[in-house]
Amino acid sequence: MRYLIGSDIGTSGTKTVLYDENLCKIAESVREYPMYQPQNGYAEQDPEDWYDAVVKTIKDVIDISSVDGKDIKGIGLSGQMHGLVMLDKENKPLRHAIIWCDQRTEKECKQITGLVGERRLIEITANPALPGFTASKIMWVKNNEPHIYEKCRHILLPKDYIRFKLTGEYATEVSDASGMQLLDVPKRAWSYEVLEKLDIDAELLPKVYESSEITGYITKEVAALTGLMYGTPVVGGAGDNAAAAIGTGIVKEGRAFTTIGTSGVVYAHTDKPVIDPKGRVHTFCCAVKDSWHVMGVTQAAGLSLKWFKNCLFGSSEEISYDVVNKMAGSAPIGADRLIYLPYLMGERTPHLDGNCRGVLFGLSASHTQSHIIRAVMEGVGFSLTDCKDILGEMGINVNDMTACGGGSKSDVWMEILSDCYGCDIKRLTGAEGPAFGVAILAGVGTGIFDDVVSACDKFIKTDNIVSYTPENTSKYRKIHALYKKLYDSLKDDFRELSCI
Ligand code: XUL
Repeated sequence: MRYLIGSDIGTSGTKTVLYDENLCKIAESVREYPMYQPQNGYAEQDPEDWYDAVVKTIKDVIDISSVDGKDIKGIGLSGQMHGLVMLDKENKPLRHAIIWCDQRTEKECKQITGLVGERRLIEITANPALPGFTASKIMWVKNNEPHIYEKCRHILLPKDYIRFKLTGEYATEVSDASGMQLLDVPKRAWSYEVLEKLDIDAELLPKVYESSEITGYITKEVAALTGLMYGTPVVGGAGDNAAAAIGTGIVKEGRAFTTIGTSGVVYAHTDKPVIDPKGRVHTFCCAVKDSWHVMGVTQAAGLSLKWFKNCLFGSSEEISYDVVNKMAGSAPIGADRLIYLPYLMGERTPHLDGNCRGVLFGLSASHTQSHIIRAVMEGVGFSLTDCKDILGEMGINVNDMTACGGGSKSDVWMEILSDCYGCDIKRLTGAEGPAFGVAILAGVGTGIFDDVVSACDKFIKTDNIVSYTPENTSKYRKIHALYKKLYDSLKDDFRELSCI
């Protein structure tokens, strides 16, 4: 039997899964690590924590399964997108990585727009300048830590730093590179025009591959640390959302998925690069050749629930998510007039506003913990509905909707979401998610599978459907309208708050 590994370097931890060639899960290991917030709006992680977690989880799955390293034929890497890793001439990280949800770069976004021109930037990178994206983080280091920028010899995304540590190669692939704002997204190659205008040396960037191409081979050192064979191929893999799309079977036009992880995403596959002229949703290359995707992002989806759970009940072990789900299910629709704006980390879709912050609107002494938890789930549901509505406005069919990610395991959250959307949501019956998606890419790159689409059709099954209730959808439409008004009313106040 041949085997494949998918490893997802996420925000809360790394998950590595070993599959056999029929894509049955053989073993899984997860290792967590911290996120640092040295200031309000900042978010950083230590790249060495990711590497430590990847090595340990690969070793774990080999040890647990007793599979011989020589039978593992390929590895795919997925990861949190947009993070900035800068290496010095000895390949050592020069500082902690500034990660996707960091909001410090408002000034640099204006600078980028000024240097490239608003229209031209969207034409080339398919997106307006955004604080989450890597280019503005690079400019921030240039502007604020010139002593570090001077020493920088390589710029890598989180999963591509891991690739470098595993194989010694500086490489990335089109889906994750799209989120750097340095790629010509329609052409799937670095944009020398943008690099020149921002005065970023192209030599700092890795080589760009398609997602299922082999990018390098496991080194002797990593083989000794993990039990893998020296020379095992590592394919391009994908940014976590493009990887989840493969793992959910969203590989043809007309299909879409919603994921609730730390962030929340509504993602639709397209055969052409379709761009929102207002820049409210992102257009990126997807992990299927000659295809793209459009996605809206809620910055704090699972993060909101985890934060409230920890604040209300203390550390995660004290009360389980099952109990939290039961509490949400026991509160009425609309949480008895309590509305939550999930802007704990600023917001991308639809506001592109790094200054906005979380709000619980309508709190009364009659509310209980259950009302608050339900309001949090509903607020995330409204934000994801904002994302879906924009895709609809762009003429993208999002009625074939699948759910994945940790939040999809919650029946009550999925009911809320399908009622907010006003459409049924499919759930997957077998393996799913980014690690599964990049294991499929590893199988394609190493010749075990013919191509991505036929492998998805063969191995991905969705027969668990959450149906929406039209009556609930009407109730949610009313509350959603008020939810939207709240941001409009508070927009200027959020800005004022950020200046205090
Ligand atoms: C997508 C995005 C997040 C991160 C974190 O643009 O920023 O989904 O990839 O997982």
